[in-house]
Amino acid sequence: IAPRYELFFPIQAHHLDALAKDILAQITPPPGETEQKRKLLAQLEQLCKELISSARLIPFGSLVTGFATASSDIDCIFSPIQVSNNRYVETPHVIEGPTDAEKKRLGDNPDYPLLLAQLLEKNGFQVLLLSKTRVPIIKLKRAASDSHPELNCDIGFKNSLAVHNTALLKTYSECDERVKPLVLFIKWWAKRRCINTPYLGTLCSYGYVLMILHYLINVVQPPVLPNLQDIPPPATTHARELSFSEDGGDTDYFIWFAKNLSELPRSKNTSSLGELIRGFFDYYSFKFAWGNAVISIRSKGGLKTKQEKEWTTANIKTAGGEGETENTFQVKNRYLVAIEDPFETTHNVGRTCTGKGLNTIRSEFRRAMDKIKTVSMAQEFSIGSGIY
Ligand code: CTP
Ligand code: MG
Repeated sequence: IAPRYELFFPIQAHHLDALAKDILAQITPPPGETEQKRKLLAQLEQLCKELISSARLIPFGSLVTGFATASSDIDCIFSPIQVSNNRYVETPHVIEGPTDAEKKRLGDNPDYPLLLAQLLEKNGFQVLLLSKTRVPIIKLKRAASDSHPELNCDIGFKNSLAVHNTALLKTYSECDERVKPLVLFIKWWAKRRCINTPYLGTLCSYGYVLMILHYLINVVQPPVLPNLQDIPPPATTHARELSFSEDGGDTDYFIWFAKNLSELPRSKNTSSLGELIRGFFDYYSFKFAWGNAVISIRSKGGLKTKQEKEWTTANIKTAGGEGETENTFQVKNRYLVAIEDPFETTHNVGRTCTGKGLNTIRSEFRRAMDKIKTVSMAQEFSIGSGIY
C-alpha cells in the first residue's frame, strides 16, 4: 500500500469515495487467489480422506463470504462425517461415518487433530497444532512459490455454527453491492490501525462486520439492508432450516434467516460508499453507547442493553483440584465491547477486547472522524486542498 496513506484519512469527506476505491483496488485479492485457496482446500480434503474416507473440510469465514482481502487466511472445519449437505432441500439426512475397516484402524475414539496434523506434516506442510485452545486448531502454512503466494489455513474441529453465520454474512453481502466494499475498507482500516488483533485485546474481523451490519440495518436512514432474521419463515420451511444443534450438544440454535432476496424490496438508500464510511465512523465515534449497549443484529432496532442481557460482569467457575473448593471469580472485561452473535446469543463476539483495547478502538474511531471533519472544514475555508 502506497506510503501516502501512512497517516490515513487526511482527506475530505467527499473524497473518501475515491480513496476507498483506490484502496479497494489494492487490497482486493489478485485474480486467481480465491481459486488457489479453493484448490488448496480441495487438496487438503483429499488428504483428510486418507485418514477417513467420509471426511470433509467445510470452509467458512472470508473465503465464503467474499470479505477476503489479499492474504486473508482460509478458515475451515474438519468433519469426519459426511452429512447430506443440502440444507434447503428435503432430502433424507444421509450420515456416513467411518467404515468398519476404518473403525478397526482408528480405534474407538480417534484423536483426529493429532492424526491429521501428523499426516499434513508428512505431506510437506508447516503445521502447528494448538490443543490448549477451547477446541483444537491446526494452523497450516504453505510457503510461497513461483506459482502461488504464501497460504495460511486454520482447520477447526468444532463450531459448525460458523458455517451458518458465514451463510448469513454472505446473504447480507448479496443484498446490496455496497456491503462488500464497505466491509473490505473497514477491515483494511482496522488492520492498518492495529485494532484487529483479538489475541492482543482488540476485536476480530467478524466483530467489525457485525458492527457494520448493525449500522446498515438500523442506523443509516433509509436503511441499506433489511433485517433478514426478522422476516418470518414461510410455513413450509423445513425444520432443518429453522434450528440446528451441534453434534452431542444439547442447545438448539434458531438459525433461520430470509434467503429469498428477489422477493425483498430494494433499498431506497442512495448514499455513496464514501457517505456510508463517514456515517459509520460518525455513529461509532459519537452516537453509539459503548458503555451500555449491546449490538444484536438479530433484534428489531439492533440494540439491547447490557443489563437486559445480564452482560455486566461474568462469573467464572474454576473446578478446584482434589480436596479444593470450587472457585468463582468475576471477570469485568468480558462485556466491555458487547456484540451478540446472531445465532449463539450467549456468545459475545467482542469478548476479546480489554479495557486498553476498547480505549484504543474508540480513539481510533474519533481520530478517523477528526481527519474527515478537519479537512472538510479546511476545504470550506479554502485552507489547503487535496490529500495531505
Ligand atoms: N467466527 C465466529 N465467532 C467469532 C469469530 C469468528 O463464529 N467470535 C467465525 C465467523 O463465521 C466468521 C469466521 O469465523 O465469519 C471468520 O472470522 P474472522 O477471521 O474474524 O473473519 P474473516 O472475515 O475471515 O477475516 P480475516 O480476513 O481477518 O481472516
Ligand atoms: Mg479468517
